Amino acid sequence: MTTYQIGWLGGDGIGPEVLDAARSVLDAIGFRAEYIPADIGWKYWCEEGNPLPERTLDVLRSTNCAMFGAITSKPASDAARELAEPLRARNLKYSSPIVQLRREFNLFANIRPAQSFAGAGQPIDVIVVRENTEGLYSGLEIHPTPQSLVSALDPARRLPHLREANPADLALSVRVTTRVGCERIVRRAFEVARSLGRKRVTLVEKANVLRATGGLMTEVAREVAAAFPDIQFREAHIDTACMDLVRRPSEFDVIVAENLFGDILSDLTAGLTGGPGLAPSANIGETYAVFEPVHGSAPDIAGKGVANPCAAVLSASMMLEWLGERTLAQRLHAAVRRVLTEARTKTPDLGGTATTKQMASAIIAAAG
Ligand code: NAI
Ligand code: MG
Repeated sequence: MTTYQIGWLGGDGIGPEVLDAARSVLDAIGFRAEYIPADIGWKYWCEEGNPLPERTLDVLRSTNCAMFGAITSKPASDAARELAEPLRARNLKYSSPIVQLRREFNLFANIRPAQSFAGAGQPIDVIVVRENTEGLYSGLEIHPTPQSLVSALDPARRLPHLREANPADLALSVRVTTRVGCERIVRRAFEVARSLGRKRVTLVEKANVLRATGGLMTEVAREVAAAFPDIQFREAHIDTACMDLVRRPSEFDVIVAENLFGDILSDLTAGLTGGPGLAPSANIGETYAVFEPVHGSAPDIAGKGVANPCAAVLSASMMLEWLGERTLAQRLHAAVRRVLTEARTKTPDLGGTATTKQMASAIIAAAG
């Protein structure tokens, strides 16, 4: 059996706690790997001015893939205040390390399954495939808006309520949509559907209003869909899709969406399954991947040893699947399902009193 090299990015708050739990489960089922810890998170922003130091990227480049716990991100004013004194004159800007990671390794697909387990949430079994590198999270943030751009927008016609078109009174976040970006994410969604025997892919957009970006995404999606005649293709508007997901979640199977829509949809579907402690994800590119629970660093429960490790363990299962260790992946997934279905061991978010370690032990026992 291969020994894999896995980058291990605990991060902040409950990040290291849930990754420790995932690690104990991976060890118990006999997964052979060398885990290589690397620095990421708020501490490194404060001390070094970069929450994702270059040495971490070097470590990751030598690994097969990485697991990531969670990080803490704070508003710009806190970031400036908490930065070490000697670094303050350098005009450094905080940038989310997970966003940096996605960009650095071109992890264009964010795959977020939402599956209800008996005893928690609504009956739902959906996989959201979210575009991860462009869309409304392109990072093209403009404020103040240069006068030339303000004028180009023709504010008298488009924004009659904007009395004086001052640069400071207008902010733009630019949705960037490229043909290649649309093509690879839609193709990935269909491939995910095919590999898992799923029947339907729904593109969630708003092309009737976002005619340029949504229009291009829709046009490309139809082209890609034609190459997958065995899988049904549907289109839905983002607003209608939100309502239908709550009312009739079983009509959805695989969903593909641009960055912001996918982010919101996957939190909605995670909410339907029973909360953040259960939602795993994978950031996947052509050659590298980073697996992470969807939740954040949860400062309200950090250090108490009560975080639910299921999202992290399910993320580890997605990692095993990606590495081609399908039997181990399924064993992990089945073990989590069994623990949640039997509902004898439950962390506080699920209404119980179990600790993170007790939950991990229950999963290990169930993986037998
Ligand atoms: P959060 O996901 O950290 O917490 C939201 C709520 O869910 C909290 O009440 C928390 O206790 C609970 N929760 C989260 N994970 C849980 C688990 N495994 N078990 C039991 N309960 C759990 O989101 P929040 O509070 O909005 O953000 C906290 C920090 O995390 C912020 O600094 C934020 O920027 C960061 N964040 C980081 C993410 C990442 O690393 N990918 C994603 C989301 C937020
Ligand atoms: Mg989110």
